Amino acid sequence: MAARTPIVGGNWKMHLDRAGARDLLRELRAELDGVEGVEVVICPPAPWLGDAADALDGTSLHVGAQNAYWLPHGAYTGEVGAAMLIGTARYVLVGHSERRHVFGETNEDTGRKLSAVLELGLLPILAVGELQAEREAGTTREVLREQVDAALSDVDRLPEGFVIAYEPVWAIGTGLTATPEIAQSTIADVRAMVADRFGEATAESCRIQYGGSVNADNVGDLAAQPDIDGALVGGASLDASAFATICRAVAGAGGAS
Ligand code: PGA
Repeated sequence: MAARTPIVGGNWKMHLDRAGARDLLRELRAELDGVEGVEVVICPPAPWLGDAADALDGTSLHVGAQNAYWLPHGAYTGEVGAAMLIGTARYVLVGHSERRHVFGETNEDTGRKLSAVLELGLLPILAVGELQAEREAGTTREVLREQVDAALSDVDRLPEGFVIAYEPVWAIGTGLTATPEIAQSTIADVRAMVADRFGEATAESCRIQYGGSVNADNVGDLAAQPDIDGALVGGASLDASAFATICRAVAGAGGAS
C-alpha cells in the first residue's frame, strides 16, 4: 500500500491584521521550513495571500486560500475567483463548515467550487462534517455521503493525494474534539465513500485530515490513527510554536498507512 504524506493546514479564518500576519508568517517559516514527513499549508485571510506567497516563497510551506468563487471574472462584488489565486495559492479550502452554515453555501455550491479549483490545476481541500444534531440522530454517514457525492459529482478522477478534511461541526472552535476512535471510524467511512465512487487505489491515496479543536496536546492520539492523515487547525494555527508542535507531531506519528 502506498504511503500517504500527511498534511496539516493552518486556517487563520478572519483573524490578524497585516502586521500580525507578516509576523506569524516569519515565525512559521523559521519554525517549519524544511520539516519532513508532513506537508504544511498556511491559509491566511484573502488580503494577506500575497504577503504569504512572498514570505513562504522558496520554502517547503504552501499557501492555501480559505475560499474561492467558481467563475473566473465578472460582476460579483466581493468575491475572489479561483482563477485569481493562480500564482499565489496552491491549495483552496472548499466547503468549510463556516461557509456552509454561516454563509449558506449549499452542497451544489461546494461542487461548483471544487470543480473550478480542480480544473484550474489548484488543489482543493474539501471540508465535510455533520452537525451535533445529525450525529445524535445517527445520520452522520448519510450527511457525509451527501456532502462528498455532491462535491465530487462533476469530477471524473481525483488527483493523487487529493485532500478531504473531516470536521465535525460540533468540534469546530468549541474545544470539544472528536475522540480518536470517532474520528478514525468516521474518516474510514469517508474513505469508503471515495472508494465507492473512484475505486480503492484512489481512496488509498486520498489524504483525509481531521479538524475540530485540534491542539498540541490532542493531535498525537488523533494522528496515530491509521486513516487520519493530518489535521486542519483553526485556533491553534495562530500560534507559531503550537502549530509547529502539531505539524511535528503529525510528521512523527506515522499514522498513515
Ligand atoms: P478549530 O477550527 O481548530 O479552531 O476548531 C478548525 C477549522 O475550522 O478548520
